[in-house]
Amino acid sequence: MIYDVIVVGGGIAGLMAAIEAKTDTNKVAIITKGNIFKSNSSMASGGINAVLDPENKEGVESHIEDTFKSARGLGDRKTITYMCKRASDIISKLISHGVEFDRDEKGNIAQRPFGGAGKIRTCYVGDKTGGAITQALIKKARDLGIKFLINNYVLNLTTHERKISGVICLRRIDSSVLVYPAKSVVLAGGGYAGIYRGNSTNAQDYTGDLIAVCLRTGLSLKDMEFIQFHPTGIAKTNYLVTEAARGEGGYLINSNGERFVNELDTRDKIAKAILEQQNNGQKVFIDLRHLGVEKIQKKLPSLYSVAFNQTGIDISNELLEIKPVAHYSMGGVCTNMVDTEIKGLYICGEMAANGVHGANRLGGNSLLEGSVFGELAGQKALEYSKKTEFLPIDYNIVIKDIQMVDKIFAGETSKNFNAIRVSMGNAMYKHVGILRTKNSLVKAFDYIKYLRAQSYSLHCINKERRNNVELISILELRNALEVSEAIILAAKKRKESRGAHFRTDYPEMKEKYAKHILIKEVKKGFFKIELENKDLLSKFRNLILNRE
Ligand code: FUM
Repeated sequence: MIYDVIVVGGGIAGLMAAIEAKTDTNKVAIITKGNIFKSNSSMASGGINAVLDPENKEGVESHIEDTFKSARGLGDRKTITYMCKRASDIISKLISHGVEFDRDEKGNIAQRPFGGAGKIRTCYVGDKTGGAITQALIKKARDLGIKFLINNYVLNLTTHERKISGVICLRRIDSSVLVYPAKSVVLAGGGYAGIYRGNSTNAQDYTGDLIAVCLRTGLSLKDMEFIQFHPTGIAKTNYLVTEAARGEGGYLINSNGERFVNELDTRDKIAKAILEQQNNGQKVFIDLRHLGVEKIQKKLPSLYSVAFNQTGIDISNELLEIKPVAHYSMGGVCTNMVDTEIKGLYICGEMAANGVHGANRLGGNSLLEGSVFGELAGQKALEYSKKTEFLPIDYNIVIKDIQMVDKIFAGETSKNFNAIRVSMGNAMYKHVGILRTKNSLVKAFDYIKYLRAQSYSLHCINKERRNNVELISILELRNALEVSEAIILAAKKRKESRGAHFRTDYPEMKEKYAKHILIKEVKKGFFKIELENKDLLSKFRNLILNRE
């Protein structure tokens, strides 16, 4: 089967894109590497921000300002404004696609407070908002006849004269390499916070595969150093304790029972305050006891049961120990809204660095960003697909991918991919975590380089081609190590503290660094890293505008 539009990624951005791109006559497919019900979007619990009355100009303005302020000087006003203005219509569209938001006693959509927000504007479905939205969108997509090509792992993109021509995948079921030609492609494969394996709320396969694919396709990455550490993961298991728990009135307390931070401050500040407590020998807990069991069961039912199942703690009676964990990546592939330097290729959702979040994201803005820019990417992909033909596939890349897979099967190894990826996660958390220094970053860089070299001598121990888990894990690991290197290089380059990037050796925010850091792969394994200058960005924008 040949598809006019291919969307990679089954989270909220990908689903919205596919739904928008589908017409009665065209063919649209969603490619996912794994279980469509386990995307990061489906795990996002607490809510989606929107000022529901579009006539409430002051409210929309305050959403724009909160988002811009939270981005700490690196937000893009045009993109933020577009998102905040679109929010009310997006909520209506989600409702028309079957999402049932919680309502108040008057029947209006209920909203709860979230961190860093001057006003209450987070719509929700209990504490399963992302899950509820993605389930409704999956159903909608199926009803529209969108094809789900699950268990397809993207290896590379093919282009013809800097125009997209197809997607090269590894099919899990038999480890074969195949090409899906397409007139236009939307990438919405999520972020890379899963690299902090063992210290992250993300599903384990959020290792930045598509970010690495984009690097290999010659695209630039932007602001890779900005990783958001969610203040509250369950200490024992990293499971997300939703910000809604604080929005509904939960406190953060230390071992002495003292509150030490405004629980509704932005995530960068709270995560740092928690770390300081921990570094002073304190444990940190979320205290929900005063909310009462009835409210907890109504507003935070998932947390109530997960906390009990994972730790044996009844949060209506007991304190739950928490720690900050890698949750979201603000950096990603440089885009202008959803446009890229390659014609017919659009990028949205967490993997896009479109300037909405800058150095720090507001809770509740990720589901909004995914839906708003997913919608836009889908519309653009559809328009583009109508005015173009299928273009030639570059079979040189396909052949190289086949050879690479064969080589991983052919060799023998004494090394263990799992040990390497666990080491990677721990090293990134320890040295490129909430607090960073030149020394910690140099250590991390050397270690990641070492692991990267090791990863190229990994081979499958199990030579069976059917559903070979090892093969995908090795490929994911290689991508994750490449992306880790980009994160560290950017973190080294940014000699200041800003938002989620805190350098203890440069604790101040500096005017000189009120700029983006761009990274490009100049040849295999070699990065060019630059502090944005105006020429560079306008050159990039012109490139995109000229082809419109
Ligand atoms: O805490 C949460 O429920 C997460 C929300 C978000 O990352 O936007």
